Amino acid sequence: LNRIPVAVLGATGAVGQRFVALLAEHPWFRLARLVGDDSAGRSYADVVRWMGDGAVPASAQAMRIEALEAPGLPEVVFSALPAGVAGPIESRLAGAGHKVFTNARDHRMDADVPLVIPEVNPDHLGLLEGRKGGWIVANGNCTAIVLALALAPLQRAFGLDEVHVTTMQALSGAGYPGVPAVDITDNVLPFIRGEEEKVESEPQKTLGRLAGDRVEPAGIPIHATCTRANVREGHFESVHVKLARKASMDEVKAAWREFRGPPEVQGLPTAPKQPIHLHEAEDRPQPRRDRWLEGGMAVSVGRVRLGADGRSLRFVCLGSNTVRGAAGASVLNAELCKVRGLL
Ligand SMILES: NC(=O)c1ccc[n+]([C@@H]2O[C@H](COP(=O)([O-])OP(=O)(O)OC[C@H]3O[C@@H](n4cnc5c(N)ncnc54)[C@H](OP(=O)(O)O)[C@@H]3O)[C@@H](O)[C@H]2O)c1
Repeated sequence: LNRIPVAVLGATGAVGQRFVALLAEHPWFRLARLVGDDSAGRSYADVVRWMGDGAVPASAQAMRIEALEAPGLPEVVFSALPAGVAGPIESRLAGAGHKVFTNARDHRMDADVPLVIPEVNPDHLGLLEGRKGGWIVANGNCTAIVLALALAPLQRAFGLDEVHVTTMQALSGAGYPGVPAVDITDNVLPFIRGEEEKVESEPQKTLGRLAGDRVEPAGIPIHATCTRANVREGHFESVHVKLARKASMDEVKAAWREFRGPPEVQGLPTAPKQPIHLHEAEDRPQPRRDRWLEGGMAVSVGRVRLGADGRSLRFVCLGSNTVRGAAGASVLNAELCKVRGLL
């Protein structure tokens, strides 16, 4: 089988490492190029500070990290570049004909860039229709993806009038080396710059409706408080929503349990069998125990409480920020583009 050669930009970072882990043995894609800035010219195994529990994949260990300008960059590019740096580079690459799957925030809200969660809004890839040459497909902020996945079944079944969310976000969400140990040890930090804005705005696009060549925002008021907690991996979110229509507890739980992506998404190599796992135990989900469900691609929901009015619903949700919220989300988007004939 001819696998499609791909590049990872920012391969040594927290997200870049997850890309390397997911792509090293991928059935459709072949890790052909690792790109870095400070690390360019060195071998991957020498320079990477591997954050995963296992070893650096054998096929990546001896790969040399290249500068972006080095010739021979594959057409398909996964970007784990820092925000700000990513925007102009990704625009340039798309202009030169590359298909860019980005984790960075810079282009997420651009009108011509689909912001896709394959199980939720695969139809938004329609924004690419008729486009010649390169383009950019974005996945959301790590917290926003977990939230949007938990909200999508509720939006479909009952409608959403309002959402309040308070997050406890993992250290790996701040990249490497991330938050200084002296700040986060024995502590919770009540502010993450720029995060609340992303969590409040991005789900409007993901949960919005494709209307021709634009996305109509979902228009759900979302109020976010984002905090950093002393957890290595897995963003945890406490959510309070007001459903538009009355529901019973059984209906709410069924909406989550029965939620699946469309058939074309269910068969993708990186797709979880069940995107949302509903936990009934009163002390679950927990980041340490539940973040790697289905290889880190499933979102956990638990602590479900429905008010007597049938509309006030409280729950917690949890998902891996570097896999479901970043690299795995991008790879899943690329797999969807492949089956749609876009790659
Ligand atoms: N961490 C998460 O959970 C998460 C989740 C969703 C989205 N994101 C987004 O994903 C992106 C990456 O995040 P991260 O946490 O992985 O960051 P990170 O750990 O700081 O890694 C950044 C990487 O970018 C490389 N780099 C920096 N400038 C470069 C340049 N000019 N050219 C080529 N490579 C360059 C660095 O490599 P060198 O050392 O070689 O310079 C490093 O490998 C960010 O936009 C972030 O907002 C992160």
